[in-house]
Amino acid sequence: MVDTLRPLAVVTGASTGIGLELAGCCMRDGYDLVIVANEPEIHAAQSKLSALGATVEAFEADLATPEGCEQIYAALKGRPVAALLANAGVGLGKGFLDQEFEAWSRVVDTNVMGTLYLIQKIGRDMRARREGKILITGSIAGFMPGTYQAVYNGSKAFLDSFSFALRHEIKESGVTVTCLMPGATETEFFARADMLDTKVGTDEKDSPAFVAKQGFEAMKNGEGQVIAGWKNKMQAAIAHVVPSDVTAEMHAKMAKPGTGKSAA
Ligand SMILES: NC(=O)c1ccc[n+]([C@@H]2O[C@H](COP(=O)([O-])OP(=O)(O)OC[C@H]3O[C@@H](n4cnc5c(N)ncnc54)[C@H](OP(=O)(O)O)[C@@H]3O)[C@@H](O)[C@H]2O)c1
Repeated sequence: MVDTLRPLAVVTGASTGIGLELAGCCMRDGYDLVIVANEPEIHAAQSKLSALGATVEAFEADLATPEGCEQIYAALKGRPVAALLANAGVGLGKGFLDQEFEAWSRVVDTNVMGTLYLIQKIGRDMRARREGKILITGSIAGFMPGTYQAVYNGSKAFLDSFSFALRHEIKESGVTVTCLMPGATETEFFARADMLDTKVGTDEKDSPAFVAKQGFEAMKNGEGQVIAGWKNKMQAAIAHVVPSDVTAEMHAKMAKPGTGKSAA
């Protein structure tokens, strides 16, 4: 059990990708870690991070369920969480009418329900202590309609909006809320979302280490939001002024099945 004088960070979705890099940022900044993912690979992440000198506890829990979230909250055993990095999330490609209920509802349950569940539990404790930092991994996808990724983009629009609202609801509490909004990032995300036959799935992407560093620094400074990288900042700015019909078509060109490099 983590029981030192170092502050404790909880990082969800820390087995791979952006979450693993966020955990690395926390570790280098002097946090002990509780890391969470749904699959046993989280223990490999624990070994990697522990080898670098941090005290790391790893838990397998399905954060798409209230039970999985409760399991993690119970594992904290009342210890104060200095930083919650709510990062676990899944994508899903293809047209909505062609997706199965089990697949799209899991996107909603993981990205929205599970994220909010844990934030509420840990956030209440932070508010009572009048200190704490919350980082939510939203996405620039939340700024545009996700043609061929409709449920995912909708879930990220929810998280982006929720993050800004929560930040202001608790602005006098000593707890800060930061929204990390990456663009396309080189992780297992696109393979898991069955999007390797799409342009966005096969194009060059940002490195997860770069994205995580931007998010971590913003969280540390108590900033409200950070869009990782200038190209993504441009894309977000365009999405704010261009009609939704246009951005929906732009998204189709990136996410339509059969648009990937190998399919050309
Ligand atoms: N990659 C991108 O282009 C991109 C862009 C914008 C935002 N994001 C967001 O960044 C976050 C991290 O994604 P990533 O790109 O790093 O992808 P990734 O490499 O696929 O990592 C996703 C992480 O979330 C965990 N996870 C998924 N479902 C879970 C569940 N039900 N319970 C517990 N853990 C679960 C995964 O663990 P298991 O393998 O154990 O399930 C994994 O650790 C997500 O919220 C994603 O939406 C990604």
